[in-house]
Amino acid sequence: MIPVLSVQNLTKEYSGKKVVDGLSFSLLPGQIMAFVGPNGAGKSTTIRMITGLTPITDGSVRICGYSINKNFKLAIENVGAVVEMPQLYPYLSGYKNLKLFASLQKGISEERINNIIQLVGMENRIHDKFSTYSLGMKQRLGIAQALLNKPKLLILDEPTNGLDPNGIVEIRNILRILAQKEKIAIIISSHNLAELEQICDMIMLINGGKIIEYKSMQDLENLVAGENKVQLVCNYPNYAGMLLKQTYGIKCKVVGNSVYVPVKEKDLAAVITFLTNKKIKIYSIKKIHKSLEDLYFELLNNKRSSSSII
Ligand SMILES: Nc1ncnc2c1ncn2[C@@H]1O[C@H](COP(=O)(O)OP(=O)(O)OP(=O)(O)O)[C@@H](O)[C@H]1O
Ligand SMILES: [Mg+2]
Repeated sequence: MIPVLSVQNLTKEYSGKKVVDGLSFSLLPGQIMAFVGPNGAGKSTTIRMITGLTPITDGSVRICGYSINKNFKLAIENVGAVVEMPQLYPYLSGYKNLKLFASLQKGISEERINNIIQLVGMENRIHDKFSTYSLGMKQRLGIAQALLNKPKLLILDEPTNGLDPNGIVEIRNILRILAQKEKIAIIISSHNLAELEQICDMIMLINGGKIIEYKSMQDLENLVAGENKVQLVCNYPNYAGMLLKQTYGIKCKVVGNSVYVPVKEKDLAAVITFLTNKKIKIYSIKKIHKSLEDLYFELLNNKRSSSSII
């Protein structure tokens, strides 16, 4: 299968300084990749190179097999992008904006425009002026515009920036449908890690223009699975911790009236039964998962061994 996007050794220099430094990765149809990293890490610059908005210093970008340098037109036909805030005509309605953009490209039917308006849930407001839209509606119209030419790759730079929780959920649902039903590959650059965690299949973390981590979400979850803990609120947490250490060799942490037990799901029932048999009263049980945000900071601060890096 030809990747929708294949990036090899992508590099950008400004005044002799590498702000993107040898990035290589690829995306298959329907995959959603989270593109994360601190301010100035090089995310927008990478996106600008992939979409042909800024020249590439070194390396290559191929979209559906076409080089963005050598076959710009064939490559870019397959890309839809919203880079930062969508720039549309404020005095035209959402509909007229879409019609205008559609007229600049070949073969975009009225039916396609109407389908997209439905997909992004803008039917009720599409004939209002763009300037009257809320931030969420502007973002949705930006996505609609990027989808007009049926792209195989959709790139969104901070699509939920400034949106309220409702707006975020709406955009998330639209992106899920696009990936699952239309098999569009999507790159989302965002600082909203909790949000990305819910929809992405892949994650790329960069810093100083270099890849710090590039993994599937599944691999990331497996990586931390052994580190998940169970919080037990009970009457004698210190005693419970001591018993678990003595009998099973499990090292627990005790905070207040809680004992944090690093235990796999399959062993949890045995631990609870054991403690109950020892007359310890358990008042609540809660699984503590390591979040993408926890991992992000560990990886950035080098608290994880580099053996986990692909
Ligand atoms: N046109 C330019 N000329 C010189 N330096 C630039 C230019 N554009 C970006 N840079 C520098 O390149 C680096 C990467 O910037 P970039 O905008 O790609 O970061 P980012 O990861 O998108 O950050 P943010 O999360 O703040 O959006 C920064 O140090 C920035 O100052
Ligand atoms: Mg940016």
